[in-house]
Parts: sequence; C-alpha cells; structure tokens
Amino acid sequence: MTRVAPAKTILITGGSSGLGRAIALGYAASGVRLFLSGRNSERLAAVVAECQAKGAEAEGGILDVTDATAVREWVTACDGKSPLDLVFANAGISAGTGGTESRIESGEQSAKVFATNVDGVRYTVETAVRLMEPRGHGQIAIISSLAGFRGLPGSAAYSGSKAAVRVWGEAVRGALVGSGVRLSVICPGYVATPMTDRNSYKMPFLLRPEQAVGFIQRGLARNKARIGFPRRLYYVVWFLATLPPAWTDRFFSRLPKKDVLPD
Ligand SMILES: NC(=O)c1ccc[n+]([C@@H]2O[C@H](COP(=O)([O-])OP(=O)(O)OC[C@H]3O[C@@H](n4cnc5c(N)ncnc54)[C@H](OP(=O)(O)O)[C@@H]3O)[C@@H](O)[C@H]2O)c1
Repeated sequence: MTRVAPAKTILITGGSSGLGRAIALGYAASGVRLFLSGRNSERLAAVVAECQAKGAEAEGGILDVTDATAVREWVTACDGKSPLDLVFANAGISAGTGGTESRIESGEQSAKVFATNVDGVRYTVETAVRLMEPRGHGQIAIISSLAGFRGLPGSAAYSGSKAAVRVWGEAVRGALVGSGVRLSVICPGYVATPMTDRNSYKMPFLLRPEQAVGFIQRGLARNKARIGFPRRLYYVVWFLATLPPAWTDRFFSRLPKKDVLPD
C-alpha cells in the first residue's frame, strides 16, 4: 500500500474540543500549519495556544458549520494562505432520547444533528474537493462513528447522520479515484471527550483521545478507505449490522440512551 507523505497544512473543523483538539495536538510540530475552527472562542484560543507551544503555526476561525457560506469562505481563505494538504470534517454533536419519556427525538433536535453532522461535513468536504482537485493533491478525513453501522433506537438521528456521512464519504472517495485527492472515513468507537463525558452509562472499550489519534494517523498514512477502531468493537458492530434488523431489535432497544441536546 502506498504511504501518504506527512501533511504540512491541516484544517480541522471542531478543533476546539475533544477529538478535534487531540488531532490538532497530534499533528502540531514545527513546520506544520494548522487551521482550527469552532464556535467557542475561549476553547478555540486555548487549543491554538497549545499547538503553538508545540512549535506549529496555528490559527483559529470562529464559525458554525451549519452555515454553508461561512464554511466555504473560511476553508477557501485558509487554502489561500497555505494550500491545504489534509482536511478533517470533524465537528459534530450527539444526542438522544435519554432523560425523556419520548420514544423518538424531537424534530428540532434531529434537524440540528443532521445539519451539523451531515450538512456541516458536506460543506467542508465539498469545498476541500473543489480546492484540491485542480492541484491533483490532498487528503480528506470524514469523522463518522461506529454508531453509523446499525441504527441505535435511543439516538436515531445521530446514528442516521453518521451512517449518511460514512456512505456518502465512501461514494466521494470512489468518485475521486485517479484525481490525486484521497478520502478516508473514520469510524471511532467510544473516545473520552466532553461529548462522551455526558454519558452516565459504561462505555465499552473507551479510548483516550491520544489512542484514537494514533489509529487515525496510521490509517491516513496508508490511505485506508475506512478507519474503524478499536478493532474488537468494530468487528462486533460490523457483524451485528450484517444481521437482519428484526433479529437484533430487542438487544438494541435495551441499550442505554444518550441524553437530549443541552440548551
Ligand atoms: N467521542 C466519541 O466517542 C466519538 C465517537 C465517534 C465519533 N465521534 C465524533 O467525533 C467528532 C468530535 O466529537 P468529540 O467527541 O470531540 O466531541 P466534542 O468534544 O463535543 O467536540 C465537538 C466539536 O465540534 C464542534 N462543533 C459542534 N457543533 C458545531 C457547529 N455547529 N459549528 C462548528 N463547530 C461545531 C465543537 O465546537 P465548540 O467547542 O465551539 O462547541 C467542538 O469543537 C464528532 O463528529 C463526533 O460525532 C466521537
């Protein structure tokens, strides 16, 4: 398998927290330029400072990934400052029906989850492809989830959004064959971040963010189509998803539910 040359200019949406922060710190080094986005200016500035302390040139952009124009303009402006080698479409939110009597999520919550996790990813990737394709160079990483292999009854929108970007990303990867632009879909299991800190249930095979970044960096260096981890949980989830849904309905309906979106 061809190895991908180390990226020098990297853009990460959702770089202000959790996995995005860990990815930024994993790549931060002298000679690396990082563009990080988020909505919270204090958290973002703190991560930018941490990356700079590791010798990287880093800057932050405050934007909401559900705003198509803002995403297009920011990604294009970053590329104008330094042509992007690697783009992570990482920003995402997670929620479910936990703590409510409702069997399904509110329309408002589902709309927010899809707008962020699907449209936000799409705006980022579409812009990156447009910029990278004429150069015949670049790599894109979409953060999906192991939750996107079989619909989880307690968080239908989250599962659906992660399934959508996984399948969409695999299609875009195929469309880019021969263009010089590479795309990988990343499917993490549980990673300890502010997103999962909200979960009150036991999370199997919970990884530290640095462990997740190790899987991601190794997978991207090999241009893997799908980077699913940890391996044991990936194989379990993959196998369950091959079974007829009726066989596993009862099992999945008993799993703990994620809490509703905080205000
Ligand atoms: N943690 C896990 O176990 C796990 C597992 C599988 C997949 N993932 C995926 O990994 C990605 C990162 O999650 P995380 O665990 O690192 O969660 P996190 O700590 O809550 O970080 C989420 C990041 O996304 C940003 N974000 C959310 N909505 C946004 C919006 N509308 N516009 C711009 N930025 C927005 C946040 O920015 P602010 O700080 O400004 O809010 C933050 O930087 C998500 O796509 C998530 O679904 C996580």
